[in-house]
Order: sequence, then structure tokens, then C-alpha cells
Amino acid sequence: TIPMLTIDGPSGSGKGTISLHVARELGWRLLDSGVLYRAVGWVVNQEGIDPADHAAVTACAQRTRIEFVAADDGSEVRVLVNDEDLGSQLRTEVAGKYASAIAAIPGVREALLQLQLSLRQAPGLVADGRDMGTVVFPDAPFKVFLTASVAERAARRYKQLREKGVEVKLEALQQDLEARDARDTSRAVAPLKPAEGAVVVDTTGLSIDKVVAKVLAVVRG
Ligand code: CDP
Repeated sequence: TIPMLTIDGPSGSGKGTISLHVARELGWRLLDSGVLYRAVGWVVNQEGIDPADHAAVTACAQRTRIEFVAADDGSEVRVLVNDEDLGSQLRTEVAGKYASAIAAIPGVREALLQLQLSLRQAPGLVADGRDMGTVVFPDAPFKVFLTASVAERAARRYKQLREKGVEVKLEALQQDLEARDARDTSRAVAPLKPAEGAVVVDTTGLSIDKVVAKVLAVVRG
């Protein structure tokens, strides 16, 4: 079987950055599963579908075409949603909120499962999300769960957004983060929690390099 590492954790735990560095270091492919939920959330919003209409949202997830296209130099992967490159639109806080809402619908998760499984290819895969180690790749040989205090996670997200020139209030951001955490951990399907056998890494106060080293040690021993 193809080796792989799952990295799960809440918003702002640093999953995205750490996964990217670790995948590069290992020379493995990278799956940012959150982007799939963001893509479906985005289409639902654009088509004016009621997020509470589970049948309609599930049908939308089933017909939405999501493609990962590697850049020529292999440095970055673009995401095409129904043939459209949405660029940074998928990374906004609003897209995150929509993603979290539709991610609680079982049919949506089922519709996105096959695509995720198909990305486990040689020489290996780093998969980042909420349920990578618990549901999608339960047999993964290496599993990590990243956490950090809510204050630190909000502060990191705040810094990220400010650097992008987005005006936000730290307090509101932290409230949104806590609301999203609560929804992600309490939902009936694929709730956010450490997978069995996952190494829990608390990243509060740790530099990116330190966390990358800890995660690499899980794989390399
Ligand atoms: O970057 P951030 O952690 O804030 O968001 P993300 O990883 O892109 O995920 C956005 C939302 O998608 C999360 O709040 C989850 O509700 C959902 N998600 C999920 O349910 N399962 C995954 N494997 C990945 C994301």
C-alpha cells in the first residue's frame, strides 16, 4: 500500500502550512481536503441553494466537478471548480463558514469521498483536514492531530488576514472560530477528533519549523 500521513485539527491549528512543508520535505503529494468543502459551499452559495436543503446540497456536491491541477514547476496546485479557477475566493472566511455548514451533511461527505481516496498515489500522500485519520484514510500508517489554544489560533488567522489586507476584528474572528469548532466537533458525521493512534501535537507557542520537525519525526521515527 502507498504510504501516507494524515494531519487533522481545528481551524488555525496550522494544518495547511505544516502539511505543505511536510509534503515538500517528504516529496509526497498533498491533499487539502478543506478545499473540497469550500468548493461545494461556494457553488451552493452561488446557485442560491438553501444550505438547509440537504437533498439539494447533496445533489450539488454530486454534480460539482473539482479538479486539482499541478503547476508546471510543481510548486502549487490550482483548484478548478466546474472548470473555473476561483483563486483566493475559496480561502475567505465566508467560504469557510459555508464549507463548515454543508460539511455536516452526510450526502456531501459521501459525494467527496471517492475523489479523496483516488489521490492516494505514489510516492505518498499527506492529507490535511478534519476526518482524514478517522474516516477517509483510517488505515494510514502515520497520523497527527494538531491543536493550539483558541486565542493563538485566532491570533494566527488574524495575522494571516491582515497581511492579505483584510479588515477584521480579532474578537469577532475568535468568536467565529469557536462557533466553527463547536459545529465541527459536535456534528453527527465525521466529527473533528483525534484518530485512534494519532500523535497529538500542541502547537501553541511553537514555530513552524519546530512543528514540521515534530511531524516529520512521526513519519521518519
Ligand atoms: O483553513 P481552515 O482550517 O479554517 O478550513 P478548512 O480546512 O479549509 O475547512 C473548512 C471547513 O470544511 C471546516 O470548518 C470543516 O467544517 C470542513 N471540513 C471537513 O468537514 N472535513 C474535512 N476533511 C476538511 C474540512
